[in-house]
Order: sequence, then structure tokens, then C-alpha cells
Amino acid sequence: MDRQSRLEKAQLLIREVTNLPTIPAIATRVAGLLDNPDVELEEVAELILTDQVMASRVIKIVNSPLYRPMHQIGSLKRALIYLGLHRIREIALTCSIIKAFEGESGVFDIKTFWQHSFGVGIVSRIIAQRVRYPQAEKAYICGIIHDIGEVFLSSRLNDEFQNIVDLIRGTSGCFIEAEALLLGTTHCEIGLCLAKKWNFPGDYCDVIAHHHDPEQAELDPMLVAIVNLADLFCSVRHLDYGGREWVSFSLAEERSWQVLKAYSPNLAGLDVERFCFELDERVPEIMDLVDSIFEGIAG
Ligand SMILES: [Fe+2]
Ligand SMILES: [Fe+2]
Repeated sequence: MDRQSRLEKAQLLIREVTNLPTIPAIATRVAGLLDNPDVELEEVAELILTDQVMASRVIKIVNSPLYRPMHQIGSLKRALIYLGLHRIREIALTCSIIKAFEGESGVFDIKTFWQHSFGVGIVSRIIAQRVRYPQAEKAYICGIIHDIGEVFLSSRLNDEFQNIVDLIRGTSGCFIEAEALLLGTTHCEIGLCLAKKWNFPGDYCDVIAHHHDPEQAELDPMLVAIVNLADLFCSVRHLDYGGREWVSFSLAEERSWQVLKAYSPNLAGLDVERFCFELDERVPEIMDLVDSIFEGIAG
């Protein structure tokens, strides 16, 4: 089955769903405002304050262990100063996505799903920093949203998705293979259609579409490769959902690692084994972080 037919099937499935989750207009407006290099902090604060839920979530995120402020930050303006305006776009988007799927009951537990997503976000940022990818924050947000198509499947196509989960449970088969087999499309194409509907930036769409076939990345191969590796890493370290049985994972042997090496010559000197060991050592910390972010945001 080729990509075009998977895309067409995804569009069809999305068209059939009437209660499609929406991303609040405020997130797009904040992003648009931040495109202007001369934007004033006051303007951004005023816009966010028109949505109290968004404002209180930004304050929760800034106080979460992810940003570790020295003192509790209580006002939106101080949160914006502390975070810096370039991070606000990402945070506004994260809040909106979580909100869009809030209270959804699906095949898998939504909390497990976000734990995976935040885990991939955090590991993406660690890898991005290590390979000197210039926008570590973007890697973080792309990690969070990479599997957005799965939430749609889990919450809107329950029966079909239950069959997919049953098919791979306890095996080493993966979601995309089972999805292609049973649905004629995968969470990558579905996620891409959703992301386009929500006007996500092109490089975010690229990650969503190609995080399982990173060599097909069209806009930013490094970014897609980083999220692919973080996804694999989290999956083998039990920051996963769906009950798939994992066999093994070796960073240096992954195709994405070759992509990163091609784009980042300084990696030639990096001790991959040691880096994996470092990542492994950080797993408990990552798990704690994921828990606290989730509780901070969802609460
Ligand atoms: Fe995925
Ligand atoms: Fe994933």
C-alpha cells in the first residue's frame, strides 16, 4: 500500500468523524503574534489573559519541574519573562493539544499516552542538546505531539483501534504495521491530516508524518531523526502504551543515528554507548518529571 492511498484513507476517516477535536483559536493567534519580531510582552500577555484556562496552565507549566524556577511564579507576566517569548508558542500549543483531548475516554488510558508523549519530548530535548541541534525546545514540543494521530484513533475509532491493540499485544509487531493492515492507513497519516487542519507549522507536520520512517523527512531530517530515536528509547524503557513487547534497541545501529551523524559531524567523536548509559541513568528522573508535568497540567 503506498503513501498516497494511506493519506487518502486518513482524510476519509477524519472527514467521517463529526466531533473532531479542535485547537482553540487563541493558540494560533498567540503563534501568529509571536511571528512578529517586534512583538511586546504586554501584547502577548494581554492576549493569553483573554483565555483564563490557558493563562493558568502557562503558570502551572512554568512552576513545574521542567522549568524549575527558584521561587513560585504567580503571575502570567512573570511567567512570560521567566520563560522567554520564544517558548510561549510551544507552551500555548502544548496546552491546547492537551485541552483538545481532555476527558476523552479511549482504548488506551490517556494518561499513559501523555506520559509517553512527554517522555519522548524530554528525551528529544536531551538528544537535541547532545547533538547540538539548534532548537532543542522545538525538539521537545515535536516529541510531545508526534503520536497525535494515535489519540484520534484511540478516542474516535474505538472498535478498530481495540483490534489493532489486540493484534500487537505481547508481540513484537508495531502499531503502524497493524494499523496499515486493519485500517489501510496509520497514525502518521492521520496525525498529519489533523496537524494540517490545525495549521501546525510545516516542520511539526514533518515529524508527525515521518517519525517512523525518518529517511523520508522532507523539511528537517535532523528534527525527525531526533524524535524517532527518542520514541524508540522511550518505548524500550517502558514509557510506552499498547502492550507491545520490545526486544532490543541499539542507538548506534539505528538509521536515525546515521542521519544525525551526517548532519552533525561533531558526533563522530561521541561515545554512543556512554551516551546511552547516561540516558538510561536518567530514566527514573524522566519518569518523575513526566508524572509531575502531567499532574501539573492536567490538574
Ligand atoms: Fe508513532
Ligand atoms: Fe511514539
